[in-house]
Amino acid sequence: MKHGIIKIRFLLPLSVALFYSSCISDVYNPEVCFQENVLPIFVTKCSMSGCHNSLDNKAHYDLTTYEGILKGVTANHPLQSEVYNQIRGINPSMPVGQKLDQKDISYIKIWIKMGAKNSSNCSGCDTLNVTYNVRIKPIITNWCVGCHTAGNAGGGYDLSNYTGVSTSITDNRLIGSLKHLAGFSEMPKNTNKLSDCDLKAVEKWVNAGHLNN
Ligand code: HEC
Repeated sequence: MKHGIIKIRFLLPLSVALFYSSCISDVYNPEVCFQENVLPIFVTKCSMSGCHNSLDNKAHYDLTTYEGILKGVTANHPLQSEVYNQIRGINPSMPVGQKLDQKDISYIKIWIKMGAKNSSNCSGCDTLNVTYNVRIKPIITNWCVGCHTAGNAGGGYDLSNYTGVSTSITDNRLIGSLKHLAGFSEMPKNTNKLSDCDLKAVEKWVNAGHLNN
């Protein structure tokens, strides 16, 4: 009898601790927002020509829009979602020849788990604090760098650093392509314009002299 009580005294806290730790690792991260955190992963890592864009008939899924991505998703159930099953594990089948960063994989998993909503501007629209490092660089990193690095410079533009981004401002290229003005290639390629909020922030930074601040 005494033996049994000791066992319970020991096991109860342990099981409570295990229960809580298993919950904590799955806790909702309110910062995962479809437009800002999830869509750019698909556009920059999965929609290259010949892969999953709206023009490619062979593609199983068009991964450049919310509706297209949703076809491979069972809301709330990442493990029943083809989109998630293709990218997880040690040797994922997608994207071909590479593995997404752990952060990207977690974002996609959490987003599906939380209902796979078409959410945007989850952390509010910040058009006041538009310094390069705080506001502009994260937009470019999320939306553009996948197709614009030194080794893979779309149109010859490497946007992975400040110098490259500054160069793209010449001849109004950056703003022209982001605003889909006539005579420029529409960016980000294969998908919709950036949100109005992000567009305003980029324009404001450019007009204020595009400092490395
Ligand atoms: C899916 C790949 C892809 C993504 C994402 C992408 N680009 Fe591009 N970008 C290209 C390619 C390829 C070109 C060369 C022109 C073309 O093929 O349309 C290009 C060209 C450009 C040009 C030159 C446009 C012109 O008319 O001369 C600019 C500026 C540019 N990109 C900026 C950006 C910015 C800023 C982002 C992010 C907001 C971005 N790109 C996202 C692939 C991409």
